[in-house]
Amino acid sequence: MSDAGCRRNGRPRLDVLAELNEEYTEILALLDHHTAMRRLSSAVPKLTGVEVAFVGSPRGSQQLVLGDFVNDYTGVANGLVVPAGAGLGGKVLMARRPLWVSDYRESPEIGLDFMPHVTAEGVHAMIAAPILHDGRLLGVLYGADRYRHRFDDRTIHAFEQVAARMAAAQVIAERSRHAAEVAAHEERRRMALELHDTVGAMLFTLGAGIRRLHDEPNLDDTVRARLAMIDQQASEAIAALRGSLHVLSAPPEQVALGVALREHCRAFSERTGVIARMITLTELPGLAPARLRALADAAREALLNAEKHARAQSVVVSAFATRDGVMVTVSDDGEGIAADQTCHDGLGLAAVTDRLARVGGTLGVTENDDGGVTVQAWVPA
Ligand SMILES: Nc1ncnc2c1ncn2[C@@H]1O[C@H](COP(=O)(O)OP(=O)(O)OP(=O)(O)O)[C@@H](O)[C@H]1O
Ligand SMILES: [Mg+2]
Repeated sequence: MSDAGCRRNGRPRLDVLAELNEEYTEILALLDHHTAMRRLSSAVPKLTGVEVAFVGSPRGSQQLVLGDFVNDYTGVANGLVVPAGAGLGGKVLMARRPLWVSDYRESPEIGLDFMPHVTAEGVHAMIAAPILHDGRLLGVLYGADRYRHRFDDRTIHAFEQVAARMAAAQVIAERSRHAAEVAAHEERRRMALELHDTVGAMLFTLGAGIRRLHDEPNLDDTVRARLAMIDQQASEAIAALRGSLHVLSAPPEQVALGVALREHCRAFSERTGVIARMITLTELPGLAPARLRALADAAREALLNAEKHARAQSVVVSAFATRDGVMVTVSDDGEGIAADQTCHDGLGLAAVTDRLARVGGTLGVTENDDGGVTVQAWVPA
């Protein structure tokens, strides 16, 4: 092999591969929420100039749990629970904006809850910023210095930026984890169907053959009894296989909605040749089956309508958690609802509205920026 074949820009090709591999590992690492948080947290001192950094992760809506400490001496505050309103982070949890103090120990508004921890760590100046996405609090980022000083605008701004990056990393991690869970379920389901078609069919044929043999006249009684036993075993094997296939193909609660929507999108694309993409924008809470069905039915009717009325080039179905429920939207880039559609015979949307209302949900139909229609179905979680 020539030298040029082994090297690019004078560097061995292996180096390039190692670099690529490192980049790839980094990207994969970021897809894990905790690793992403730890990585960003460890970069806070360099990015913002503070000495100590840590993160408060929400536990319910009224508490933070402190962790991911960088440059702390004692570890005393690791795992500490901060209630809403207490200390600096508890205040950020409520105010949802950055707050800071020049000297924690001499700020009367902070209270005494965490004074032993702060004193043990030798901390004075402290800053905390909310990690927010779409109004949802994903955590609180803290920074602290072991001397008293006023935080300047540059540090505050840098802090807000790191908090924004942390929010983005968490959202990406949530989305990719959900997508991976849906994909894993789809693979399990595919395997289940394959086993059903192959092993299931073979067991059935085997059972039928044994039964035919069992019914043969002139058979020795012992052989007949043995055949009856083998037939019984084959039936039990079929029942066990069915049970396992059922478990394999049933989607777990958290991914059931994503799976149902993906299936509707795939069927729509197959019928129409128009691309329908499914995006999960946040982690989704598990939904009661009736609510899940109402959302999936709404999406199916919206896709049917896009097929019948829209003349769309593409359709996007998205699902995301709202503060108190789950929203599914179906947007097409078609012609929009015709102006003379004030009175029509269609029942589809009315039926969907009814079904959603029965589980406490709502339906909205609006024109979108592409001139097409966006259907929004919501249910409480
Ligand atoms: N994506 C869309 N693009 C353009 N027009 C739409 C779209 N979705 C709905 N419409 C308009 O809204 C009307 C009402 O929709 P609806 O689903 O209630 O009834 P339908 O689809 O006409 O009939 P049915 O659903 O009972 O078969 C439709 O007739 C159509 O004119
Ligand atoms: Mg319809």
